[in-house]
Amino acid sequence: MVDFPWIRKEVIGDCTLYQGDMRDVLPALPEKADLCATDAPYKLTSGGRSASMGGKFHPDRYDNKGELMQVVPWKEMGVPIHNALKDQADLYVMTSGDHVSASQIAFQASGFKHHTICTWNKISPPRSRYYMKVQEFTHFMWKGPARDVRDGGVKTLFTCPAPRGLDWHPTPKPTALMAQYVLQSSDAGWLVLDPFMGAGATILAALAFGRRAIGVEIDPLFFDMTCARIKAAYLNGFQEIRDDWEHWRVENRIKGHAYAA
Ligand SMILES: C[S@@+](CC[C@H](N)C(=O)[O-])C[C@H]1O[C@@H](n2cnc3c(N)ncnc32)[C@H](O)[C@@H]1O
Repeated sequence: MVDFPWIRKEVIGDCTLYQGDMRDVLPALPEKADLCATDAPYKLTSGGRSASMGGKFHPDRYDNKGELMQVVPWKEMGVPIHNALKDQADLYVMTSGDHVSASQIAFQASGFKHHTICTWNKISPPRSRYYMKVQEFTHFMWKGPARDVRDGGVKTLFTCPAPRGLDWHPTPKPTALMAQYVLQSSDAGWLVLDPFMGAGATILAALAFGRRAIGVEIDPLFFDMTCARIKAAYLNGFQEIRDDWEHWRVENRIKGHAYAA
């Protein structure tokens, strides 16, 4: 009997999803990916304890211990991701303001080179004692020979709201944001990896624009819910995801012609 380093594997259309620990699953993947776009889990720093905290950080919902989900130390993520990519590949990895420098140092120590930081303006952040944090940051890095993005006229700031109706996951990201990264750094048919799949924004964005995808998620509930979300998106041909990106592309004054297949 062969022991696989994942708990479950689901193939849905052009994506293969693994439930397991990315540190175990990535070294066993049968194919190297062309692009990694991910939103890594990290320990939160305290937002304080105050009745003014809102949303998922409301005292009734959050124990203020720094963990909304399982986390992996930054220094343990980079090498498995680097090894799971082809010799020439881009990496987008989201992080918070508190973790920008620790995550950059760790990924550079794993062999990635750093292009720049992209910023997501989420428009309506929750209340906080120490400012409402409207930005989230994404390191744009690369492995091997650097490749130009598809449209060099796109700014590093992308504005769109956080997704609604996904209360089963603590930190879902907008598919429009992940689609923008996927479109900038891949072609149709390429293989996109998300080692921290969560509610599946990267996988859905990749599939909606004709890429193949691999996702890894350790939490069984998130894995099940995301499999169901992807199956539902296949049923409507990913139209909502493409329409949403189209809307925010126009709002962000991105021309879009560079991404024609
Ligand atoms: C910040 S969330 C990703 C959110 C995602 N971008 C989305 O749109 O929903 C990070 C995810 O990584 C998962 N995770 C934590 N440790 C992991 C590990 N060792 N291997 C794989 N997934 C892990 C968490 O359960 C969580 O769902």
